[in-house]
Amino acid sequence: MTRTAVVTGGGTGIGRATAAALAADGLEVVITGRRKDVLDAAAADLGPQVRAVPFDATDPDEIEAALASLPERVDVLVNNAGGNPDLTGPPPQTLTGVRDAWLANLEANLVSAVLVTTALTPRFADGGRVITLGSIAAATGAAGYGAAKAGVVAWNAELAFQVGGRGVTANVVAPGLVEETEFFGDALTSERRATLISQTATGRAGRVTDVAATIAFLASPEAGHITGQVVHVNGGAHLGG
Ligand SMILES: NC(=O)c1ccc[n+]([C@@H]2O[C@H](COP(=O)([O-])OP(=O)(O)OC[C@H]3O[C@@H](n4cnc5c(N)ncnc54)[C@H](OP(=O)(O)O)[C@@H]3O)[C@@H](O)[C@H]2O)c1
Repeated sequence: MTRTAVVTGGGTGIGRATAAALAADGLEVVITGRRKDVLDAAAADLGPQVRAVPFDATDPDEIEAALASLPERVDVLVNNAGGNPDLTGPPPQTLTGVRDAWLANLEANLVSAVLVTTALTPRFADGGRVITLGSIAAATGAAGYGAAKAGVVAWNAELAFQVGGRGVTANVVAPGLVEETEFFGDALTSERRATLISQTATGRAGRVTDVAATIAFLASPEAGHITGQVVHVNGGAHLGG
């Protein structure tokens, strides 16, 4: 039976590379995101094994409406949708602004993964795989973004035990700096980029394929005894314990 995957945020960056890797491994892949045009273009590029289902992963109504278009049996869920809304504007100047910024990060990165996983849990195949994108920022800071990614780790630890009896694994993949994505927009200065690269042992930025290959391994049938873990893909910029 052909295995199926749902990759949230699969129209760009790490998610798109992950969809390509899973399709190359023979899976039928659904990519999701808010921008239908971006998803449709990605699906057309990635080939007949990949189809697009647009929805906002932070919106319960949109998730429920999308369920009819998602696979009845889900072998692999990649909670990749997310980002750092703080990068799109100046720091908040009011207490209300600080509150809004922190809630926006929690919603984009943590609540989105919790909602999509909760909606799809009844559809997980025995031996299924849940992989959620964390970040080096969970260990190094970055205000609400880092806190949201740290929250992903805590949530994943419990999820692993909730689903483990069915042979389903739940892991976090935590990248450092990864280029070829929309993550930073215009916010990454050449100085900041050089600093982040200088912190690696490999002397380079991460590539989307570095992360996608790690996700594809964790998604494979052979990775069935790895669960509740955080797998760091950061060139040594942060040494995971
Ligand atoms: N790039 C890095 O250096 C880096 C480092 C550590 C962790 N990460 C994490 O890696 C993941 C992928 O990011 P990326 O670097 O590949 O950046 P990206 O190109 O901006 O990809 C993020 C994707 O998520 C989708 N998305 C965002 N919010 C969504 C929502 N509410 N509902 C549905 N889809 C949503 C976006 O599409 P729409 O806008 O069309 O919805 C986009 O396709 C994120 O979780 C990010 O936090 C990235």
